[in-house]
Amino acid sequence: MQSAPGTATRVAIVGAGNVGATFAYALLLSGLAAEIVLIDSNRAKAEGEAMDLNHTEPFAHPTRIWAGDFPDCAQAAVTVVAAGANQKPGETRLDLVKKNAAIFADVVPEIATHNPTGIILVATNPVDVLTYVSLKLSGLSARQVIGSGTILDTARFRYELSEHFHVDPRSVHAYIIGEHGDSEVPVWSIANIAGMELREFAGAHSISCERAELEEIFRRTRDAAYAIIQRKGATYYAVAAGLMRIVEAVLRDQATVLSVSSLVSDYYGIADVCLSLPTVVGGSGIERQLRLKLDATEQEGLKKSAGVLRHTIDSLDLANLRAAS
Ligand SMILES: NC(=O)c1ccc[n+]([C@@H]2O[C@H](COP(=O)([O-])OP(=O)(O)OC[C@H]3O[C@@H](n4cnc5c(N)ncnc54)[C@H](O)[C@@H]3O)[C@@H](O)[C@H]2O)c1
Repeated sequence: MQSAPGTATRVAIVGAGNVGATFAYALLLSGLAAEIVLIDSNRAKAEGEAMDLNHTEPFAHPTRIWAGDFPDCAQAAVTVVAAGANQKPGETRLDLVKKNAAIFADVVPEIATHNPTGIILVATNPVDVLTYVSLKLSGLSARQVIGSGTILDTARFRYELSEHFHVDPRSVHAYIIGEHGDSEVPVWSIANIAGMELREFAGAHSISCERAELEEIFRRTRDAAYAIIQRKGATYYAVAAGLMRIVEAVLRDQATVLSVSSLVSDYYGIADVCLSLPTVVGGSGIERQLRLKLDATEQEGLKKSAGVLRHTIDSLDLANLRAAS
């Protein structure tokens, strides 16, 4: 379906694989975007996904969906980047970094050249490092570059807690911060159900809440991607829903608090790295990061996580990546 040029809400997706295509499907069903353009180095894949999605329209919303090229990013409010390899069984997200940073050196300058005012939302792993790489390669402001970060880990955490405490996951308020990966940090000190601290809630409802049980909840959260990849080869539904939530917050200027990755400048002494914190996301992208009162263990964990990310960024030779782009 066509809309008047320049007036429609456009979302561009670079990388129409499992994550990109599932996100496109969720976006189409939501009706939030009038235009969805799919860009992939495998042109046939983007075309096939666009055709399949177009045939969904009679059951969803009239939407213009097509396989395009980087100039089509020009009018996009948000460009979601999910291009790149995914983790192989046993591979960490950080192992992926060199392969995917090289892909970003190709795609990010293209996006930014065609659309210097839009928002880039990075999903490709290792997402925090690639969010930082995107910021540096694009020359965009820190507000405009968002990584999906721990939005997925936070969802997994809330799900695991909801199972244990027998409540709707939407009633569980708890965050995972830091790296989207092995060094991520659960913020137990502020986790609550309807304002009740977890142990208080457990006591009031005769639910056990031993330290070992909480540790196991976090272990399942942190290691979920490995468990899923071992079984089905990739993860994509939950991350696509998380990307949807971020895009919705931007397109509707919702000022929603989401755990997403963005540039951190001065947070418990952490600076010049992208990692996840509860962050207000709205029409201009990253609006502000919330300054949580972390306990000593959480502060220590967050600093370690920042150190892991900094180390990986340093291993990348960004100047060379820039020169190659
Ligand atoms: N952030 C998260 O929470 C999260 C969750 C799941 C997966 N991921 C990551 O998302 C990424 C994509 O995973 P997937 O399962 O969709 O992979 P996939 O292999 O199914 O899709 C990747 C797509 O990128 C395309 N591509 C590669 N190079 C490109 C380029 N230069 N330009 C345009 N397109 C290009 C490929 O042709 C392919 O269609 C991986 O890095 C994965 O680890 C992130």
